Amino acid sequence: MVGFGIFGCGRIGRVHASNIAAHPRAKLVACYDTVDTASASMAAELGPRQARSVEDLLQDPEVHAVFVTSITATHIDLISRAVRAGKPVFCEKPVDLDIARVDACWAEIGATNPLVMLGFNRRFDPSFRTLRDRVSAGEIGGVEQVVITSRDPSPPPAQYVAASGGLFRDMTIHDFDMARYLAGEIVEVQAMGANLIDPAIGAAGDIDAAMLIMRAASGALVHINNSRRCAYGYDQRIEVFGAAGMLQAHNRHLTTIEAWGSERTHAMDPVQDFFIARYAEAYRAELDHFIDCIETGAAPLAGFADGREALRLADAALESAATGRSVRLA
Ligand SMILES: NC(=O)c1ccc[n+]([C@@H]2O[C@H](COP(=O)([O-])OP(=O)(O)OC[C@H]3O[C@@H](n4cnc5c(N)ncnc54)[C@H](O)[C@@H]3O)[C@@H](O)[C@H]2O)c1
Repeated sequence: MVGFGIFGCGRIGRVHASNIAAHPRAKLVACYDTVDTASASMAAELGPRQARSVEDLLQDPEVHAVFVTSITATHIDLISRAVRAGKPVFCEKPVDLDIARVDACWAEIGATNPLVMLGFNRRFDPSFRTLRDRVSAGEIGGVEQVVITSRDPSPPPAQYVAASGGLFRDMTIHDFDMARYLAGEIVEVQAMGANLIDPAIGAAGDIDAAMLIMRAASGALVHINNSRRCAYGYDQRIEVFGAAGMLQAHNRHLTTIEAWGSERTHAMDPVQDFFIARYAEAYRAELDHFIDCIETGAAPLAGFADGREALRLADAALESAATGRSVRLA
């Protein structure tokens, strides 16, 4: 039984905490949030002890591993402190917004090769994972093109955007990771962004729509398309095209029922609403995988270095969008 502590009792923290509380090989021991009412309500709902401070949680002998699900600006500090306390860490994406801070963190903690897993939950989605396994097994031959569609149902408030690091580092970061997961290392990035949806997002200095073309070291081309607003819900699709065929993973709908009538055919229920519902299985599977890694010492499917690489691609996309040129990565 692995005892867990959790830093950050907000939206995604509650998803992971509920999964830990329900997992047969896990126990939710303690939670900490700088907002007292957030950790108090998690403690009341799911039963962990409400820790008084970061150190109080880390020094708890029943806490064997921690989840860092607090705001992005806190990730590096909490990863470092947890590793120094000898605890395996699961940290939500992005690892940080500044690659120099990411490198300084690893320079400090990396010598012992600590277990740090990154919350790239899409790798654990059953359809995307099966698609990747089938690509790896050679079903469609060599990969030539990957198309990743990722559109949120509605834009976040402009004040969220201001602290998020911008669309590439906050939202596309998942797609950069999927690009690497499906096509291998990326060596060239060309990005265009636009403010098409909410002028307040533009005023905050960010974009709310983007299209990217990237080249993998293998020669394969990858296209990512992002929007912060999508009239038909959370649009999450992947297509991989190869010499011998194509694999597509489609959206998931509330039911599998199709309606046919005089006005339209093939009409389906709405797609599953946003990440908490759409990726519920993936969040459970990544917890399961993290526990396996803790118990066996295996390296995680998505680790600290993957968090760093995704951030490097986000930085390249920012540079490309600002300069209008494609950016080659060493
Ligand atoms: N993988 C995913 O699907 C996914 C989805 C949503 C969010 N995220 C990431 O998870 C992180 C949290 O996002 P959210 O949407 O849950 O945010 P949120 O604002 O709902 O929750 C964050 C919580 O962290 C708390 N907090 C702030 N500083 C803290 C500290 N020093 N110690 C402990 N708690 C602290 C806040 O009080 C808040 O309760 C972000 O990095 C975000 O990018 C990942």
